Amino acid sequence: MDRPSLYFITLLWIAIAVIVHITMFFVTAPFGRHTSEKWGITINNKLAWFVMEMPSLAIMSYYLFAYKNNFDSFVWILFVLWIIHYLNRTIIYPVRIKSTPKKMPLAIALSAIFFNVINAGLNGYYLSNQTVPEEYDLSWICSTHFIAGILLFAMGMFINIKSDNILIALRKHGETGYKIPNGFLFKYISSPNLFGEIIEWSGFALMAGNLPAFSFMVWTCANLIPRAKNHYDWNVKNIPNYPKERKIVFPFIY
Ligand SMILES: NC(=O)c1ccc[n+]([C@@H]2O[C@H](COP(=O)([O-])OP(=O)(O)OC[C@H]3O[C@@H](n4cnc5c(N)ncnc54)[C@H](OP(=O)(O)O)[C@@H]3O)[C@@H](O)[C@H]2O)c1
Repeated sequence: MDRPSLYFITLLWIAIAVIVHITMFFVTAPFGRHTSEKWGITINNKLAWFVMEMPSLAIMSYYLFAYKNNFDSFVWILFVLWIIHYLNRTIIYPVRIKSTPKKMPLAIALSAIFFNVINAGLNGYYLSNQTVPEEYDLSWICSTHFIAGILLFAMGMFINIKSDNILIALRKHGETGYKIPNGFLFKYISSPNLFGEIIEWSGFALMAGNLPAFSFMVWTCANLIPRAKNHYDWNVKNIPNYPKERKIVFPFIY
């Protein structure tokens, strides 16, 4: 596929993200605390996380090894960061979340697989088909956008994992209810784990400086900003004394 065709598909994909973003403020994605039997067949929650995130890990790993090794290119850094994130999300995160009777609708797992295949496919295809070798050469890793981007990525990953850890630790084994999380960024926002993920992929897009990476950042915001709003509304309604003054996902802003 030539670059103009790849760009055209990516722009269409971004347009779909905008539609999904608006829709998600009205239709809550039914997993985690919002899970529902109304969406048809359901599957085990831990298994669902593994199955739906695995395509992203597998596709980027495939493209990393398929990519013709050129020692003037540092493009592998982008692959490695992506793979580290998805090793956590695909394997470590589902193992660590507490077992509850909660299930996930198969429809959600299938739509997440589709989302992951397209996002990893576009990014992996672009990065493994470098027609401009100098795009990721030594001057790239010395550039301001690379340095700022990788710092943001690392900060976002730290915030995401630390916040997920705090949430996972709220329940003792066998517990299923919801408590008020405190400490760290929970003082300011209701969903610091989602905030961290948004920062992470914004850093990735800044480092990579290409359209597929930008598209993935847009999709991450499109999914996670309404999800954070849904979490906040649910918490206020269902967790006694939940601190309403916390912002939803961006400290001091929203
Ligand atoms: N890139 C993307 O588009 C995307 C999309 C979705 C999620 N994600 C990432 O996937 C991870 C999970 O997302 P999520 O929205 O499912 O996170 P979440 O609702 O905050 O849940 C995270 C874990 O903590 C538990 N938990 C949350 N709040 C709790 C509370 N008040 N008391 C006790 N336990 C609590 C949840 O249990 P329950 O499952 O029982 O509620 C779940 O096991 C995040 O790191 C997020 O960034 C990424």
